[in-house]
Amino acid sequence: MNEDTKNILNEIDTQLFYTKIRDSEKHKQASFTHFLHNHKNETSQVYKANALAFVKNVLSHKYPEHGISQQLTEEMLQYLIFKSQSSPLSVIPFPAPQTPIFSFIDLFAGIGGFRLAFQNLGGKCVFTSEWDKYAQKTYEANFGEVPFGDITKRETKNSIPDNFDILCAGFPCQAFSIAGRRGGFEDTRGTLFFDVAEIIKTKQPQAFFLENVKGLRNHDKGKTLATILHVLRKDLGYYVPEPRVINAKNFGVPQNRERIFIVGFHPKTGIHNFEYPEPTEESIAFKDIKEEQEVSVKYYLSDVYLNTLRKHKARHERKGNGFGYEIIADEGIANAVVCGGMGRERNLVYDDRLTNFEPITNISGKVNREGIRKMTPREWARLQGFPDEFKIVVSDGQAYKQFGNSVAVPAIQATAEQIIKKLNLNITC
Ligand SMILES: C[S@@+](CC[C@H](N)C(=O)[O-])C[C@H]1O[C@@H](n2cnc3c(N)ncnc32)[C@H](O)[C@@H]1O
Repeated sequence: MNEDTKNILNEIDTQLFYTKIRDSEKHKQASFTHFLHNHKNETSQVYKANALAFVKNVLSHKYPEHGISQQLTEEMLQYLIFKSQSSPLSVIPFPAPQTPIFSFIDLFAGIGGFRLAFQNLGGKCVFTSEWDKYAQKTYEANFGEVPFGDITKRETKNSIPDNFDILCAGFPCQAFSIAGRRGGFEDTRGTLFFDVAEIIKTKQPQAFFLENVKGLRNHDKGKTLATILHVLRKDLGYYVPEPRVINAKNFGVPQNRERIFIVGFHPKTGIHNFEYPEPTEESIAFKDIKEEQEVSVKYYLSDVYLNTLRKHKARHERKGNGFGYEIIADEGIANAVVCGGMGRERNLVYDDRLTNFEPITNISGKVNREGIRKMTPREWARLQGFPDEFKIVVSDGQAYKQFGNSVAVPAIQATAEQIIKKLNLNITC
């Protein structure tokens, strides 16, 4: 290594990780982080060219006066592999298992609820895609990997490695009508399910685990789900047991959240039966996930705002409509966390810790004396079964949205465990 190289390496060190990246570079940045995570396995080859291009671009940008050679770039990449073993990647809260027993890909990854569950069982994530930049930020802070973007793009699909074991996808359910059509693979074109099915078709994973809202069962009088099952069973040839609606509250979180789970096994696995997990007996209430410390005054509703909410609710109830909030007592459990619109006020809780102090105001006025506040982002995280080590690095508004969009990790993990057992992989936990 010549002196120039050494100087640059010393100077740049881990700054590369913190460089502000232009959007056009995002795909290469994702390749770069995926390369670092996979440098010990052959998957890294899929990412190498773009990882090198990324490093070269960053170096050229930072050191325009130096001609950045291919050799220097290669040395830099080697150095970063070495660095990533110690810092900063190793200080991420949820690193991949040291000796993974299976591999998976994480599509529509959000903030990584599936990833947490599968990593807990000894899985190594070899590809991830999520296009929302704030979700990407949370994902990177927790797993050290930047997700690839739009999964419908050929460029993104081309980055998916071969030979992974399980495909995970909590794909958004866009309304799509198949009325008057045969309802086969090609008929789903233009929907995100089509992209999932196309990846299954091309990559032939041993198993898949899809998650969606409960309403998928009845969408378009059941035709949408029928099409999905037809494609997975008949066109792709997978064994797909009857989908199951699973409630998070039966798996150790105080949340009444029902989601439909669809699992499938490749014909070559010879698997023809599957048991969804049995509910655990654990009974858990809001008090079990409540913040232990005094909660910031900003989460308490002002008198004026609380009155407005109550008036709205009363008016809607008189008309027979629902209105988006509920107040949960310590012993209660929440209805599903949802994001958007009035979702912010959806999970209000009683918390009398502030009532001893008088008078207290927050930015919107004097706070109510009844101790009614919003749940904090950390409480929302716990409601979905995310451990407290999970970093929240975005605004409260984004955090509510991200946890609301995510999955109840324990319910995913219990089902994932059944899949892994069926595939005869040895679970490490
Ligand atoms: C229902 S959420 C899944 C959340 C995830 N399972 C988790 O644990 O956080 C669906 C996610 O798909 C992402 N998404 C939607 N369309 C996408 C696309 N074309 N490419 C990549 N991500 C997409 C959304 O931004 C959203 O975060």
